[in-house]
Amino acid sequence: MKVLGIESSCDECAAAVVEDGRTILSNVVSTQIPIHALYKGVVPELASRKHTEWIYAVVKQALDGAGLGPGDIDGVAATSRPGLLGSLLVGLSFAKAFAWARNLPFIAVNHMLAHLYASRLEKAPEAAPCPQAEPPEGWAEPPVPYPFLGLLVSGGHSLICRVDDFDDIAVLGTTIDDAVGEAFDKVSKYYGFGYPGGAAIDRLARNGDPEAFNFPLPNLHKGQHPYDVSYSGLKTAVINQLEQFRRAGGREPLFRQEDVPGPAGGAGAEVKKDEGADIAASFQRTAVEILLRSLFRAAGDTGLRTIVAGGGVAANSCLRERLAARPDLRCVFPPPELCGDNGAMVAGIGYQYLVRGESSPLTVTASARVEGFKRKYP
Ligand code: KG4
Ligand code: ZN
Repeated sequence: MKVLGIESSCDECAAAVVEDGRTILSNVVSTQIPIHALYKGVVPELASRKHTEWIYAVVKQALDGAGLGPGDIDGVAATSRPGLLGSLLVGLSFAKAFAWARNLPFIAVNHMLAHLYASRLEKAPEAAPCPQAEPPEGWAEPPVPYPFLGLLVSGGHSLICRVDDFDDIAVLGTTIDDAVGEAFDKVSKYYGFGYPGGAAIDRLARNGDPEAFNFPLPNLHKGQHPYDVSYSGLKTAVINQLEQFRRAGGREPLFRQEDVPGPAGGAGAEVKKDEGADIAASFQRTAVEILLRSLFRAAGDTGLRTIVAGGGVAANSCLRERLAARPDLRCVFPPPELCGDNGAMVAGIGYQYLVRGESSPLTVTASARVEGFKRKYP
């Protein structure tokens, strides 16, 4: 069964065709990063306009890339939540119209569940960059059996959950304030490290000393929040450090962004090269430590030894290294190109609903928020 998946929840306009919920026949991701980079953040109004302009070409390219026409598709899936409403509505409406025109079943997909599904996908052999080569780690492994612990980390969400099926998760922990990806993006914006912040900080941190700065860890774990995380304290501490650099003054500025609004009213960041890398590495180490403290506690308490990650922050090299260093846990990551937003994860999970005989009414609408996750502590 070939499913067309459409994803437009934020700034990636994406479509893919996946066969039998597993094999990626095509995967087109058209990013709006250069457009939003001018504003150092996603501008929702611009995002939805660009989706409207691009969606036809992106879907057409996904069909062409798979060597298929609209008549070869057996079902259509699209992200309906969570995300930017205007952006979601573009992909969702396009998918509903496609399904209606071809008389196909339609599936509205939860973006976070789709991220969790990404590691179950594999490339079609002929689509692999080098068919003779061994598949990279985590690629084309047999799907991990349920239950496992899910680590969903993106720009808008940080979730640690018990996963019993592709659509059955119980949230054990979440952020009490900012999402982890949001913290990467905000720190990067203040320091002028680049946009989007996660990948920029990850790159910069390679040349930095992760022990150079000691940023605080939140103290949430006594009482009611054993698996929750918090990023506002870390974010504030890292941004306050920028103020200290400014006060010290007189340094050779490397990261100079006159137009980065700073806490003191937009004076611009002046941070020496090595200090910038040290800040990035120290922030990243702490951000990952915050996640892992809660994750390891959840693994210990639930006895679940398999962890499946998903979402943009799952591409983070420090997170991947730290989890790889735990031989007692099996940690499964999607390949980096499937960590960020893509249509393949939407098509893949869409198939699972279809084989169960489920579909969504064409009256379904978009929602900005995650809905329907049970939250429970074991
Ligand atoms: O899943 P995603 O593409 O979109 C959302 O659903 O939000 O995640 C985007 C987030 C952004 O905050 C971005 O800065 C972060 O993922 N990100 C990273 C890395 N690559 C992307 N964060 C840390 N390290 C990375 N290498
Ligand atoms: Zn996402």
